[in-house]
Amino acid sequence: MKQVPHTPTRLPMLPENLSICVFDAYGTLFDVHSAVAAHRAAVGPKADAISALWRQKQIEYSWLRSLMGDYADFWQLTQDALDYAMQTHGLGDVGLREELLRSYEMLKAYPDAAACLDALRGLGFKLGILSNGSPKMLARAVTSAGFHGVFDAVLSVESVRIFKPDPRVYALVTAQFGVTPDRICFVSSNAWDVAGAAHFGFHAVWINRLSQPPENLPGRAKSVISSLSELPSLLRAS
Ligand code: LAC
Repeated sequence: MKQVPHTPTRLPMLPENLSICVFDAYGTLFDVHSAVAAHRAAVGPKADAISALWRQKQIEYSWLRSLMGDYADFWQLTQDALDYAMQTHGLGDVGLREELLRSYEMLKAYPDAAACLDALRGLGFKLGILSNGSPKMLARAVTSAGFHGVFDAVLSVESVRIFKPDPRVYALVTAQFGVTPDRICFVSSNAWDVAGAAHFGFHAVWINRLSQPPENLPGRAKSVISSLSELPSLLRAS
């Protein structure tokens, strides 16, 4: 990704004085459905259902393992969830399983991600990722999307061995940047992650790509937009 030359623009004085923007990874920057999409013909007519169930189970396993106190890293959960989805839909092709996992390691970034990050850097924001992903998964995803060097910090739950929305995960950001939660703009397209982040005290922005209703949970987004391309002007105008 082309980097903006750093002529630090003075940030507008926002009520929250935001200067750090931290992104969720999977589903927000990286399109989790691009792995199955890359093998649509081989997966067959149930491709979309398999992709949706793969994602659903991956997230369910993260919540359930957190409740059970039995952490395994997100790469393990990603494999376990794929196995469940393939089994549900009667797919037993071991070669296809490997291909899907290889594609998951190199997910496509959403088309609106690069320009958004570029614009925020141009505005002088520090950028970060906070994700359930293991450090190795995140490093591969960031590199394959061309985002190498874009983020000031790529934070994984691995260091606390529990998944979002446990507050210890969000606290990794405040510890990293040495600021109070209200100084962090946290961006996610996962509504439950937005709830967790807002509940922790972040200035949460929900990228509601699919026009879903908000979750009935404590913690509300400060803003709701439909794509990452709206984020720079939202933050500039805040
Ligand atoms: C993540 C999950 C929520 O990247 O997609 O943390």
